[in-house]
Amino acid sequence: MNNFILSDSNVVDIIRKNIFSDDVLDFTKKNIKPIEEMYSRYTCAMMEIETKFKVLNEQLSLEYDNNPIESIKTRLKSMESLVRKVRDRGVDFNIAAIEENINDIAGVRVICSFQEDVYKLEESLLRQDDIKLIKRKDYIENPKPNGYRSLHLIVEVPIFLKNETRRMKVEVQIRTIAMDLWASLEHKLMYKKERTPEQHDRIVSELCECAQIGAMLDQRMQNLQHLVE
Ligand code: GTP
Ligand code: MG
Repeated sequence: MNNFILSDSNVVDIIRKNIFSDDVLDFTKKNIKPIEEMYSRYTCAMMEIETKFKVLNEQLSLEYDNNPIESIKTRLKSMESLVRKVRDRGVDFNIAAIEENINDIAGVRVICSFQEDVYKLEESLLRQDDIKLIKRKDYIENPKPNGYRSLHLIVEVPIFLKNETRRMKVEVQIRTIAMDLWASLEHKLMYKKERTPEQHDRIVSELCECAQIGAMLDQRMQNLQHLVE
């Protein structure tokens, strides 16, 4: 089918003249640039936050003789998922409105060893002068009905560019290894959609039970850490 379309000289001609025309290419280039610049600012903000956690890990590891952070993951929202979100939320299609209304374009996920580390890291991050807390959701204190646990922060961090300083929002998720294990597997399991309502209910209820086991595991590991210390 593809071969047929591509070998159709009329279609190729139409593409060449219209879609690949200088006008269309110029229009795309002009409009893609502000989006690329916005993504670049979020990349910088994400790097700032990642570095802050790396610095904290370095310092806390000296203080407590073990590093509280197991790993840090960063991600930028894909263009496709950003456009979907902007469209579904009725946000204006311009950079200022997107930066104002969409909080999770840049994401930093910090996986730590023990539950108390989550709050220790939060406190150390928020104590920093240049960090402003915009929103906080504590799904550890109040897990989601499905069992999901994590601490979510939306923070604003300044980035220092050539001629200006911009404040950018970053979504920070801080969680333990057990919370991360559950969230990763739940995501995988819930993504497959072909199943009967009975199967669905069974999976949801099993996952909820697994989350409780995860919470119990975190508690026991925390107790052990106290014991060891
Ligand atoms: P958006 O969903 O991003 O629009 O923001 P929100 O404020 O409504 O969501 P929330 O802060 O509750 O969660 C945002 C992110 O947390 C998601 O993108 C996931 O990465 C993670 N998350 C939240 N709930 C779940 C869950 O039930 N399962 C898993 N695996 N991850 C979750
Ligand atoms: Mg999100």
